Amino acid sequence: MNANASIDAPARQRTTAAPLLEVRGLTVAYGKAQVVHDVAFHVRRGEFAVLLGRNGAGKTTILQAISALLPKRGGQLTFAGADVSANDAPEMVRAGVIHVLEGHRVFTSLSVEDNLLLGTFARNRRGDRTKLARVYDLFPVLAERRHLQASRLSGGQQQILAVAQGVIGEPKLLILDEPSRGLAPIVVDQILQVARQLCDAGIAVLLVEQLVREALKYADYCYLLETGRIVGEGTSSEVQGGDALQRAFLGH
Ligand SMILES: Nc1ncnc2c1ncn2[C@@H]1O[C@H](COP(=O)(O)OP(=O)(O)OP(=O)(O)O)[C@@H](O)[C@H]1O
Ligand SMILES: [Mg+2]
Repeated sequence: MNANASIDAPARQRTTAAPLLEVRGLTVAYGKAQVVHDVAFHVRRGEFAVLLGRNGAGKTTILQAISALLPKRGGQLTFAGADVSANDAPEMVRAGVIHVLEGHRVFTSLSVEDNLLLGTFARNRRGDRTKLARVYDLFPVLAERRHLQASRLSGGQQQILAVAQGVIGEPKLLILDEPSRGLAPIVVDQILQVARQLCDAGIAVLLVEQLVREALKYADYCYLLETGRIVGEGTSSEVQGGDALQRAFLGH
């Protein structure tokens, strides 16, 4: 990754919408090793927010603490105006937080369509075919391959399917943990474009990404994480080339 590369981030303003997710004083530890320290940030309704940081900075840990896949040592979470700090993982999903896990793989022995139908169970506990059409509109590559076994998709297409499986659950906030990992740049671009479209349709996205340039091209607002602490924030155009971005990635 090259944080020095010129970044052609469009000059977006932060939306004035109300906060959807608010994280305050978040602390997370693995046993005695505290890896997230008093982290505070928020994602507004319909906003595309990105959390950037080097390997091991604590990005995945923060996302997993938000969706209650990891216990919080301390801190408060508010979602859509309600205190959700004590929610368990299924309660977070029902509240509208859907998390596409890092390295998420789909069920390769099932068809594309059956993978999507599984995604509809996230919040409704039933396979709801009426939602397929909207997702196929967003992801034409999946529409063309709906009856194929997912094992026949390329790695990039499987990742798109994983994202689509999250989208079909109708999140208010979609959490994406490095959807680009292992993918060709053109596929990464497609996935981030879809994330942008979702935000433009009113769904908030919280993305973790290593590809700084790509993320800043599409995101509205950026938080920079360095060894478990937020060290900078701003709109994509504000943070590009800034000291905090350099530090978060280059460590100086
Ligand atoms: N299960 C675990 N047990 C102990 N330590 C862990 C565990 N998972 C992560 N860590 C440590 O916590 C810190 C943060 O890890 P995390 O996976 O959140 O980072 P990340 O920013 O997502 O990194 P990457 O870019 O590699 O995905 C790292 O020092 C990591 O070694
Ligand atoms: Mg990670």
